[in-house]
Amino acid sequence: MGRGDLDPEQIVRFEEVGPAVVLLDQRRLPDEVVDVRCATAAEVAGAIRDMVVRGAPAIGIAAAYGLALAAVRGDDLAEAERVLASSRPTAVNLPWALAQMREQPTPERARALHAQEVERCRRMAAHAAELFRPGTRALTHCNAGGLATGGYGSAVGALRAAAERGLLERVLVDETRPLLQGARLTAWELERSGIPHAVIADSAAGSLMARGEVDLVVTGADRIAANGDTANKIGTYSLAVLAAHHGIPFYVVAPTSTLDRATPDGLGIPIEERDPAELTTRFPARNPAFDVTPAALIAAIVTEDGVHRAPYEESLA
Ligand code: MRU
Repeated sequence: MGRGDLDPEQIVRFEEVGPAVVLLDQRRLPDEVVDVRCATAAEVAGAIRDMVVRGAPAIGIAAAYGLALAAVRGDDLAEAERVLASSRPTAVNLPWALAQMREQPTPERARALHAQEVERCRRMAAHAAELFRPGTRALTHCNAGGLATGGYGSAVGALRAAAERGLLERVLVDETRPLLQGARLTAWELERSGIPHAVIADSAAGSLMARGEVDLVVTGADRIAANGDTANKIGTYSLAVLAAHHGIPFYVVAPTSTLDRATPDGLGIPIEERDPAELTTRFPARNPAFDVTPAALIAAIVTEDGVHRAPYEESLA
C-alpha cells in the first residue's frame, strides 16, 4: 500500500466469527469512521441499497461476500442471489461478481475476487498515468477511489499513480450532488494520500475549464456498453460535454468487470432512479443517480488491459 491508501479489508471484509460481512459505512465519512456488520445476505443487500457501500466494483465485491455469507449460514442461495442482484440496477459489476461466485460461493472465492479487483486497479492506474504530462491539473467526479473499488481506486488510482510519478499538480473534485461522494469521499482519500486538491461545486466545472484551469477529466464507470457508451454518476455526461466544448480530454478508467459487452449501447443501460427525498422532501423531485456519456465524447477508456481508443466496439472486444 502507498501512503494513506485504505487497507482493502477496512473497506469490506468477511468475518468467520459471527459470521458477518463488515462494511466501512461510507454514508458517515469523513466525519466518522465506523463499521456496519451484516449478518445475512439480505442485510448486505440493504447496505448496498442504502449506500453504506457504493461504487461499482465495491458493490460487486460486497455482494460476493454476501453470497458467501448465505452459503456459510446454509441459507437459500438462489434467494440470496436474487436479493443481492436486485439491490442496485446500474453497475454491471454486481451481476458480474455474483456470476463469478456461482461455482464456488465461499469466503475464499470472494476474497480472491476482492484481491483481483484491487490488482486490476493497480494495473489500470499504471496505464492511465501514461495519459498525464508534468504539471497536469485534473478534474474528477463522484468517488472512484479505493472506497468505490475495494482498494486503490480506478480514476483515483490513476491520480495516485500520476502523483507518484510527479505528473500531477492538483485535482479539482466535483462535490457530486446530491450525496456528495466527491466532497466527502474523494476529498478524504486525496487528503489521506497527500494529493493537492480542491472541492468545487459541480456547476463550477465549466467556468474553470473556460479559464484554462483543467487539463484533463478522469472518471470511473458503472457500466460500459459494447460501443463504449458509459454510465457513471449523474453529472458525468454534462462534464463530458463541457470537456468537449473546451477541447479537454475526457478519460474513463474502469476494470473489465465493468464492461457489458451484451449491451450494444447506452440506451440499454438501466438507470437507477433514487428516492426524491435525497434532494428535497418539500417539493416534487426527480433523482436519476446515473447518466450515460456517449462514446464519441470519451477520448480513451482505460482498463487493466491498457488504453483503449475509439472505435470501442473493436478496441474493447
Ligand atoms: O452511486 P454511487 O456512489 O455508487 O456511484 C458511483 C459512481 O458513479 C462511480 O463513479 C463508479 O461506480 C465508478 S467506481 C470505481
